[in-house]
Amino acid sequence: MQVTVFNGSPRGPKSNSHLIAKALLEGARQAGAQTEEVFLIQQNIKHCRGCFSCWGNTPGICIIKDDMAALMDLYLESDYVGMATPVYGMLMTGLLKNFTDRFLPLATPHIRKNEDGSFYHQGRVKHFPRQFFVANSGFPGAHNFDLLKAYYEMAKKAGESPIVLEVYRNCGEALQDPRGYDGPIREKIDQFYHALKKAGSEMVAKGRVSEDTVKEIHIELMDDEAYMAEANRYWDGQIQETKDQ
Ligand SMILES: Cc1cc2nc3c(=O)[nH]c(=O)nc-3n(C[C@H](O)[C@H](O)[C@H](O)COP(=O)(O)O)c2cc1C
Repeated sequence: MQVTVFNGSPRGPKSNSHLIAKALLEGARQAGAQTEEVFLIQQNIKHCRGCFSCWGNTPGICIIKDDMAALMDLYLESDYVGMATPVYGMLMTGLLKNFTDRFLPLATPHIRKNEDGSFYHQGRVKHFPRQFFVANSGFPGAHNFDLLKAYYEMAKKAGESPIVLEVYRNCGEALQDPRGYDGPIREKIDQFYHALKKAGSEMVAKGRVSEDTVKEIHIELMDDEAYMAEANRYWDGQIQETKDQ
C-alpha cells in the first residue's frame, strides 16, 4: 500500500505541514505502508494554461512538459493521498492550488449535475486514491479553516475519491518554533503527534480513522490568548527599525 503526501508549503521540509505529515506517514509505515512526501516547492509545476487540450485534442494528457506527469503517476499509483497546506490568506497556498488545477486531465469534459444542484466533471480513470487533507494555521481560534472546510465540502461533492481524514491544526507555529511556547504545551504537542501517528496507522489498517482519534488530533494546544500574547511578544523582538521611506 502506498501513502503519499503532497506538501504545498513554500517552507518545504522546514514546514509545520511537514511535521504533521511526517507523523501521519510514520503511523502509516508502522501499519505496513510505503510512504512518500513530495515537497511541491521543489518541483517544476507550471500553471494550467486553460487551453483544454487535455479534454479535446489530447484527451487525458496535459501538453505542458514539466514534473507534473510523473507526479500524476505517483498520485494515481497511491492508495492514499494527502494534500497538506498552511492557511494562506484564509485558504490554501498558491502552490497547492496550482498543483490541484493541473489535475484537469483526470476529469472528462461533460458537465454532470448532483442532486443538490451542484455540478461536476466525471473522472477519467477507474481508480482514484482515497484522500486526506492537512491544514495548519498561524492564528489560534476556530475560524481559520472556514473557507478551506467549505472548499473541501465542495471537493467531496465533485470528486470521486473518498476523504478519510481532515486535519485542521490551529496555533501551527507552536509546533516547531523556538518562541516561548513551552511547558505544558510540549505535552499537548506530543499528544497531537501521537494521535496523528495513530490516524496514519488506522487509515492503512482499517481504511478509516476513528472519531476518537480525530478528536485527539484536534485537542487545544494552547489557550488562544496565551498563543496570541506569545506570538506578539516574539514579533516585538524581531521587528527591525526601518529607515524612513
Ligand atoms: C502569505 C501568508 C498568508 C497567511 N495567511 C494566514 C491566514 O489567513 N490565517 C492564518 O491563520 N495564518 C496565515 N498565515 C500563517 C501560516 O498559516 C502559518 O505560519 C503556518 O503555521 C505555516 O505553516 P507551514 O510551516 O506549514 O508553511 C499566513 C502566512 C503567510 C506567509
